[in-house]
Amino acid sequence: MMALKKNNTIRVADYRADFPALSELMNGKRLAYMDTASSAQKPQIVMDTMNDILMHHYANIHRGLYAHSQNTTQMFEAVRAKVAGFIGAESENNIVFTRNSTEAINLVAQSWGRTNLKAGDEVILSAMEHHANIVPWQILSGQIGITLKIIPVLENGTLDLEFFEKLLSDNTKMVAFVHTSNSLGTVNPIKDIIAKTKAFNKDIMTLIDGTQAVVHGAVNVQDLACDFFCFTGHKIYGPNGVGVLYGRFDLLESMPPYQGGGDMIEAVSFSGTTYKPAPFKFEAGTPAIVEVIGLGAAIDYMQAIGIDAIAAHEAEMLEYLTQKLINIDGVTIYGTSPNKASIASFTADWAHSSDIAMILDQQGVAVRTGHHCCMPLMEAFGIEGTTRASIGLYTDKDDIDQMINALNKAKEMLA
Ligand code: ALA
Repeated sequence: MMALKKNNTIRVADYRADFPALSELMNGKRLAYMDTASSAQKPQIVMDTMNDILMHHYANIHRGLYAHSQNTTQMFEAVRAKVAGFIGAESENNIVFTRNSTEAINLVAQSWGRTNLKAGDEVILSAMEHHANIVPWQILSGQIGITLKIIPVLENGTLDLEFFEKLLSDNTKMVAFVHTSNSLGTVNPIKDIIAKTKAFNKDIMTLIDGTQAVVHGAVNVQDLACDFFCFTGHKIYGPNGVGVLYGRFDLLESMPPYQGGGDMIEAVSFSGTTYKPAPFKFEAGTPAIVEVIGLGAAIDYMQAIGIDAIAAHEAEMLEYLTQKLINIDGVTIYGTSPNKASIASFTADWAHSSDIAMILDQQGVAVRTGHHCCMPLMEAFGIEGTTRASIGLYTDKDDIDQMINALNKAKEMLA
């Protein structure tokens, strides 16, 4: 399955055919899907794996003594171990299945945060966070009175790390920030930020939102030495409805359940309930069985191609796209960090981003426009939003050329 060129990038033509949706037309035009950061298309193997379960083996897990349930349970639990390997976790016991990254962060805020924090404690976030890593902490702040401190963003879309060090104080209890920005593509120096945090006070917790990172480069949570890390299935060519929370096991063990219900208990009576150990006590109710198994297929698919090879291909495509974009008059790119992944976010002084997106849509080009669930970041840049083109392992130069031609058309019509 490895199809490497000499420079270790992938031959994208060998993989595009794995994604049936890419052969569909949009508005009668070839589809140039440049919205992978929003949600990635799915390879056939993920759909086949999920269909196979539904057609031949489906049963609820952890509950049945019959063969189908036991087999499905084994397949589901094998993905927990696969995910642990994928992100370099100590063991499958560090892996909690959630609905998505959003639920993973809410789980940490409500379970760890509500138990361990009190009024006046500080949580440091960055100005480039997705709303998923802002709102759960604001809700907690409303509940118990914690204070949020924000690392500003510099003009090139990197974090102001000098300012960050000044924010650390005796009240800091958690530093929670994004690995790769969904709206700028900036790859933050997370290992360095975690090291600085722990050097200041090893008891400060760190949570990394790895949603846009795990798909563009290998991650090892033990090497990062973070306390929590999360990502979601649908950004890594897997299904939606499944996400992952990694937690240090001693922390997971010490945290109370986030939601109560079936499957997370040892015994229930009206005089009291006991819970399963972590990670199971965090998985109340029937989980996303088929989706978790589909996530396993997506991880296998990416690993068979090679994460480094995918990253090298995406870097080549991003460079190609960036060079074309900067040659269009009136275009400003937001996020020019030298360490950047797969995203080109821009405005044009000749049109609003939603007008540009409408014309791109007519030309078969799918991009995202607006604030990208990062309203505070847009406010920091003094803009309403951007047009965002994002790249995946299947993105080719034809997609980019089609997008640039459509942009030039938009300019002719709107400028
Ligand atoms: N968080 C997703 C995005 O960046 C939806 O588009």
